Amino acid sequence: MGRGIQNAVRITGKEQVCYETVRIRMASVSGVIRVSRPGQFGMLTVKSPDWETPLQRPFSFSGQGDMTIRVAYSEQGLPCDKRTVAGKVSSYIVNDLEVGNLALLTAPLGNCFFDFRAEMDGADAVYLVGGGCGAAPLYYTAKSSVMLNKKCLVFSGAKTKSALLRDEELKPVFATKDGSEGEKGTVVDLMKKYGKFEKDSVFLLCGPKAMLKCAAEEARKYTNPDKILVDTETYMGCGRGVCNKCGISVKRDGVIHSYNACTDGPVFRYSDIRGSDFFEFETVRSGARKRIPI
Ligand SMILES: Cc1cc2nc3c(=O)[nH]c(=O)nc-3n(C[C@H](O)[C@H](O)[C@H](O)COP(=O)(O)OP(=O)(O)OC[C@H]3O[C@@H](n4cnc5c(N)ncnc54)[C@H](O)[C@@H]3O)c2cc1C
Ligand code: FES
Repeated sequence: MGRGIQNAVRITGKEQVCYETVRIRMASVSGVIRVSRPGQFGMLTVKSPDWETPLQRPFSFSGQGDMTIRVAYSEQGLPCDKRTVAGKVSSYIVNDLEVGNLALLTAPLGNCFFDFRAEMDGADAVYLVGGGCGAAPLYYTAKSSVMLNKKCLVFSGAKTKSALLRDEELKPVFATKDGSEGEKGTVVDLMKKYGKFEKDSVFLLCGPKAMLKCAAEEARKYTNPDKILVDTETYMGCGRGVCNKCGISVKRDGVIHSYNACTDGPVFRYSDIRGSDFFEFETVRSGARKRIPI
């Protein structure tokens, strides 16, 4: 598990990759950013001139020293044309952060997909299923050398064509909710339509909670829940096991098991978190928990 080192970083590149989404590249001011592996994340701290204090948020690595960031909205799940208040930090990064600006990065944090050695080593086929910006860390994973000798297929979904994360090298299979490209529907509809998954393969999932649950249940038709690895990009405060804002708890065999997504995850076996509150509730910035609409 990455314990993270705090570094001053300079933004060295910024590129719009799709609708309201940028990929930023960073270099440490003092030397090299510590190696981050697929699934790990960093706490990025930025400061807009309009804020009194700097703000930090967790972002997954989508490459070595780069992150892919999409504007978050306060009403989750609404179509693109009915959005309300834009996320504070993500919209600042997407719209205002410039090449040359400084930020603070604590990284690498959390575990990585390849920490699940037994599951990964034993698999001939690996299916990666991403929703929205959740596809970015999966693309990073699929390009890793660990995947070289495996059959690897990437499924990626978004609301509409302009919001799809593209990748020339991987050539993901796409789904869009409005049918503007690829399969019409969600990425889970795409999984159902594909339906040719090899038995006992490994599934790597990343995206919104509602998608994760449906995708994991679909994957269970083909493989053991131990082999379904879920990247839980849940709400986090500190990212370092201190604030308890990222708790996941589940009752198994009459015993309550509790995890912190930031230090025990963010990647979990579905068998460990199936039936947990992670899939039922969302924690909002005030600390309140609200039930996720089905
Ligand atoms: C391990 C991890 C990796 C992440 N990786 C990425 C990434 O690669 N790219 C990316 O764009 N984002 C990623 N996120 C989400 C990111 O950290 C921020 O939560 C998101 O950008 C919103 O922050 P904000 O300040 O813009 O919005 P805020 O102003 O804090 O909130 C805007 C709205 O979004 C809701 N919200 C905030 N965070 C989350 C969340 N994590 N899940 C669901 N709803 C939320 C709030 O409740 C509010 O309604 C990741 C989160 C985690 C925990
Ligand atoms: S984010 Fe603070 S304990 Fe996990």
